[in-house]
Amino acid sequence: MTLILGIESSCDETAAAVVRDGRTILSNVVASQIDLHAPYGGVFPEVASRAHVEVIGAVVHQAMDEAGLTYADLDAVAVTRGPGLAGSLLVGVNYAKGLAFASGLPLVGVNHLEGHIYSLWLTEAADKLAFPLVCLIVSGGHTELVLVRDHGRYEHLGGTQDDAAGEAFDKVARLLHLGYPGGPAIQKAAAGGNAKAHPFAKARTDAPYDFSFSGLKTAVLRAATVQPRPGQPRQRGEESEAPLKPDLRVADVAASFQRAVVMALVDKTLQAAREFGATAILLAGGVSANKALREEMGKASPLPVYTPPLHLCTDNAAMIAAAGTQRFLQGQRDGLDMDVQPMWPIISLEAMGG
Ligand code: KG4
Ligand code: ZN
Repeated sequence: MTLILGIESSCDETAAAVVRDGRTILSNVVASQIDLHAPYGGVFPEVASRAHVEVIGAVVHQAMDEAGLTYADLDAVAVTRGPGLAGSLLVGVNYAKGLAFASGLPLVGVNHLEGHIYSLWLTEAADKLAFPLVCLIVSGGHTELVLVRDHGRYEHLGGTQDDAAGEAFDKVARLLHLGYPGGPAIQKAAAGGNAKAHPFAKARTDAPYDFSFSGLKTAVLRAATVQPRPGQPRQRGEESEAPLKPDLRVADVAASFQRAVVMALVDKTLQAAREFGATAILLAGGVSANKALREEMGKASPLPVYTPPLHLCTDNAAMIAAAGTQRFLQGQRDGLDMDVQPMWPIISLEAMGG
């Protein structure tokens, strides 16, 4: 039996969880900062790291209490080392180092994206998963298409050239005055809308499995807001403060935008699954909570599509503990000099020399 404590603080969730054998969640505590960042319409880095510092101790203690374990029962501490906000990552990594030092437990640094992939191993789908798999990781910070050849063996097929999918949802929600976080707000607004009302064009990308969403955001801005007259500069201030067209059907814009994002994600994921002979498609990350994405992918895919339940789609530490379990079992150990990696790409174990 392997018992791992996972710690996650890469963005705006402070989380700790205990997982048995990389499969069974014994506790999963998440302190969200959504309310703190809502006034800014996005995550404010300094506010995020300060909030992590305030709650991390309590979050870890609660996770241990709920699991009914002491540190002596654990095999290791796994912590998100990157990618993410440097100041936020530092809080979790330093806390984990302190814990490892004080308790003598091994320390295992985990890639946040790998964590999202392993969220699927915490679900009932785990027994059915057979390699190779194609995983689409879509969140506020990421849009990554990853070929999972085996445990700890990845190939990064493509990613976003500009905005992440979740970021696009958040920005468009802001310019439609729908609030933060944008994903759920757009989904709700889109429910009564006509997705064919605005035929937003598909973005062209340099590589077949890359994505681009910033052009789409500009197209929504043009369709939805009052444009300055030719030759007249836009008023000072943010694009998101531009007034909406008076007769605008926000539901139609939201639905059309959502459809454009979903179709781009579905098309490229299916194409990758075909090319690499995947046995199934995995969806992970906050945006995989999107109902239209789940439905479209399910409808269009000849392969099974697996998605974690909502609370495992968004950032959590159970997925970090699950990924950490694999890494721990394959021998990865990190020193107390381990540093955060804000721009860390997802890499295979052998590439780490571990
Ligand atoms: O994975 P996550 O919790 O944090 C990051 O690592 O970024 O993802 C958060 C993102 C936000 O951009 C949020 O707007 C988006 O996931 N999101 C959604 C939905 N629920 C959350 N996007 C589309 N539809 C949703 N239902
Ligand atoms: Zn995430």
